[in-house]
Amino acid sequence: MKDIRIAVIGHGFMGHEHEKMLKDFPGIRLMGFSDKDPKQLQDVAEGLKRYQSNEEIFEDPEVDVVLIAANNNQHHDLVIQAAKAGKNIICEKPAAMSLQELDEMVKAVGENGVKFTIHHQRRFDPDFRTAKEVYDSGTLGAVYAVKSQLYGFNGNMHDWHVFVSEGGGMLYDWGVHLLDQLCWMFPGAKIRSVFADLRNVINKEVDDYFQIMLRFDNDVTATVELGTYYLSDKTQDKWFERHWFVAGNKGSAYVDGFFPEGKVVRTTHLLTNVGGKRTMTAAGPTRSFGPAPEGTIVTEALPEIHTEHRNYFENYVRAYHGEEDFLVKIPEVRRVLRLMDAVRESARTSRSIDFE
Ligand SMILES: NC(=O)c1ccc[n+]([C@@H]2O[C@H](COP(=O)([O-])OP(=O)(O)OC[C@H]3O[C@@H](n4cnc5c(N)ncnc54)[C@H](O)[C@@H]3O)[C@@H](O)[C@H]2O)c1
Repeated sequence: MKDIRIAVIGHGFMGHEHEKMLKDFPGIRLMGFSDKDPKQLQDVAEGLKRYQSNEEIFEDPEVDVVLIAANNNQHHDLVIQAAKAGKNIICEKPAAMSLQELDEMVKAVGENGVKFTIHHQRRFDPDFRTAKEVYDSGTLGAVYAVKSQLYGFNGNMHDWHVFVSEGGGMLYDWGVHLLDQLCWMFPGAKIRSVFADLRNVINKEVDDYFQIMLRFDNDVTATVELGTYYLSDKTQDKWFERHWFVAGNKGSAYVDGFFPEGKVVRTTHLLTNVGGKRTMTAAGPTRSFGPAPEGTIVTEALPEIHTEHRNYFENYVRAYHGEEDFLVKIPEVRRVLRLMDAVRESARTSRSIDFE
């Protein structure tokens, strides 16, 4: 099968990540990069093209796919231009800054008969896949709560991410990944309602904190919390924290870190009414929060998960050749954008929003 020839627009942070990933990727030939800032092309690796403009990519008959890794506010126009040039497209997340933008992009893609998908490689994050595997295994019984949390400790929001006009803010940046993961975790489940708090804690223009509660019709309430400004004196290897918590009526699981550590903690039988022995703690006497009777709780290792971001492009290669579906489908992407609109509306009105 012929290699898929991919050229990338944007050689910034993500452009460099794509260069590392795709330089020697089976089934893919990385052609080169364009960037509106010529300085950004100076360190493009030997052997790759430095396109002088995006148009040069669109006109290059050797390019099969354009991968768009430019700022969020560029995705709409670049996708439409690439589609009109007959190029297949992978676009970085968030696909678009609004539903209207996405719909216009999809129209252009449809009119020109090109392939279009979005780079949501975080569906392969091992922490997420571990939490999903625990949920799917049924080992926790009827799951009622899932928490997905990400905290940064240094207050860092940088470059264009602090400007609304550029598509800045944490909802577009990380929120889209975290919501996409939760939607994908429960296939077929509808989201009945959304309640959210979305704040500019220190940034003038854009959100830098959010807490979002999604009530799914599979009886799970999922909470997503992200904070960029939880200042802390943690040491260098602890610039952030990532946590999952999954709770069911037979046990719970905690999954900590991107390469997770944690445990499944289960009961040997439902503990609806255990003898309320009085326990003295530093905070005073307790019965509800005392230790469980011996033998009623067991701990187990988390399942071992071996996913990685390159799996996204492995799927891309197979799907491009028609061997399977693209992992990331546009209706899923549209749903997450709608969800982000509901998040904003809930935060603005302080009300829960009916969703599906
Ligand atoms: N999937 C992920 O995990 C992930 C991670 C980080 C960023 N991203 C996404 O990647 C995209 C780029 O983010 P980044 O962090 O690399 O930003 P960045 O600022 O580091 O890089 C963007 C680059 O695009 C160039 N650019 C902007 N407009 C352009 C245009 N019209 N034509 C050509 N070049 C243009 C800029 O000069 C810059 O070099 C964003 O959409 C972002 O959301 C995705």
